[in-house]
Amino acid sequence: MELLLEGRKALVTGASRGIGREVAKGLAKEGADVVVNFNKNEKMADDIAREIEKFGRNTWVYPASTSNIEEVRKMKTAIEKNFGKIDILVNNAGINIDRLFVKMNEAEWQQVIDVNLTGYFNCSKVFLDNITESKYGRIINIASVVGQMGNIGQVNYAAAKAGVIGMTKALAREMARSKVTVNAIAPGFTRTDMVEGIPEEVKQKILKGIPLGRFGEPEEVAYACVYLASDKAAYITGHVLDINGGMYM
Ligand SMILES: NC(=O)c1ccc[n+]([C@@H]2O[C@H](COP(=O)([O-])OP(=O)(O)OC[C@H]3O[C@@H](n4cnc5c(N)ncnc54)[C@H](OP(=O)(O)O)[C@@H]3O)[C@@H](O)[C@H]2O)c1
Repeated sequence: MELLLEGRKALVTGASRGIGREVAKGLAKEGADVVVNFNKNEKMADDIAREIEKFGRNTWVYPASTSNIEEVRKMKTAIEKNFGKIDILVNNAGINIDRLFVKMNEAEWQQVIDVNLTGYFNCSKVFLDNITESKYGRIINIASVVGQMGNIGQVNYAAAKAGVIGMTKALAREMARSKVTVNAIAPGFTRTDMVEGIPEEVKQKILKGIPLGRFGEPEEVAYACVYLASDKAAYITGHVLDINGGMYM
């Protein structure tokens, strides 16, 4: 059977856990070779690489903090030398430091902006020449429903994710003539470490606001990512795809 991403090379940031891990596996299952980027959890990143190899794909694991452009530049040089040129970039690495605005300090604001927004800028900036060279190119930015509707305790995170949506639309317009598509996925609450940390009573409250009555699964974000990366989605750009169980329409 024909695979959707045969011959493509992808970089997934923050692929050691959660959504990124499933996206990396999903792309590999459809034929892409995948670089697994991580920040701290080397062992988990290595485990993902072993799973990718089972699909018969090439893979490579590389540590870099996406919020540091020098580390991202080094990662690009190393990837080009050892793996090849990236034509699919999935900006996924993210953190949250939740605090009511009245208690949030500048460092908590800045750290979340640095990873969730500047990190996406850094990787897009550094890998863009690879992506434009291949006459096919995909940038997929993992945003969040919180960037669309806001959330108590997440002023920093909501600002970063809303920024990602604006960045996606502007970059999509700039890259269109190079046949590179730039899209965002806005997941709702998805079962990863990020959601595991939410107190049980808050989780129950959130569930009441989700028409489909459950949290999302990371695989459900991965399926959308595979589609947006494929040739089948060549006419979709600047789009924000909601995967949120109807929480925000
Ligand atoms: N889970 C949700 O409900 C949800 C909803 C909407 C959007 N999102 C977004 O989806 C993305 C993934 O979230 P998740 O729930 O899968 O999170 P997660 O389970 O906490 O995993 C976060 C991933 O990002 C990596 N990471 C963190 N800081 C990094 C940095 N500075 N440089 C490189 N990698 C870094 C982590 O690497 P290490 O393992 O090495 O620390 C890990 O692989 C994020 O952008 C998040 O905002 C999540």
